[in-house]
Amino acid sequence: MVKEHFEAVARHYDLANNIMSLGLHRPWKKLAVQILDPRPGQRLADICGGTADLALLAQRHRAAQGQSGTAVVYDLNRTMLELGRAKARRSAHGGGISFVQGDAQNLALADGSVDEVMVGFGVRNLADMAQGFREMARVLRPGGRLVCLEFSQPSAAWFAWLYDLYSCLLMPLVGRVFTGSWSTYSYLAGSIRRFPAPDELGRVIREAGFSRVGWRRLSGGIATIHWARKP
Ligand SMILES: C[S@@+](CC[C@H](N)C(=O)[O-])C[C@H]1O[C@@H](n2cnc3c(N)ncnc32)[C@H](O)[C@@H]1O
Repeated sequence: MVKEHFEAVARHYDLANNIMSLGLHRPWKKLAVQILDPRPGQRLADICGGTADLALLAQRHRAAQGQSGTAVVYDLNRTMLELGRAKARRSAHGGGISFVQGDAQNLALADGSVDEVMVGFGVRNLADMAQGFREMARVLRPGGRLVCLEFSQPSAAWFAWLYDLYSCLLMPLVGRVFTGSWSTYSYLAGSIRRFPAPDELGRVIREAGFSRVGWRRLSGGIATIHWARKP
């Protein structure tokens, strides 16, 4: 189902993302990269990396420090990766980014082979999210850092009600305009509602093998950034 969903949305993914998040995904992603603070010369894995937004921002962040590093964008969907590759080619910061197609629950990356892991709006799609985090812990070197950006439920009741209305009606409507299918984006609303609260997600990350887990709610709680370190 996840494969079909992203196949259907891939061509319009960036535009639909901008519209549906009211452009908020951009400042959220920038903040996630600032929190990770990717270092020059290090290797980042952007898991469920889609069209490479986070990898490109990470490379830009490193370039601002005067040096480069490498990033691997890892995603199940070939169309998303091809769009990401084209975007990297057009970008001044696209050098050093490679693309790998595969399942986040069974990463084709060696143990301890990356310094930094990012996952943006990705773990929500995994059938076994805990397994996804265990794989991220496995491929990180000791001391390596994880940053995870995900949608979440607003904390205030009135805002949660408004947001429910938005995600159940407006999101599928925008999805219908772009993909011709209402259900393609009602999947997104359902997956956000079923997603664990920040403290519960923090527990899942800790149990997967991370320490120093923390999080910050964004924009009234509609997204949350978690960070952690591999001991
Ligand atoms: C909502 S997009 C996020 C893309 C990107 N990280 C961003 O923030 O714009 C989720 C991505 O997860 C990928 N995905 C879903 N299930 C996956 C899995 N099991 N393994 C790897 N990637 C997966 C999808 O193909 C899609 O590109």
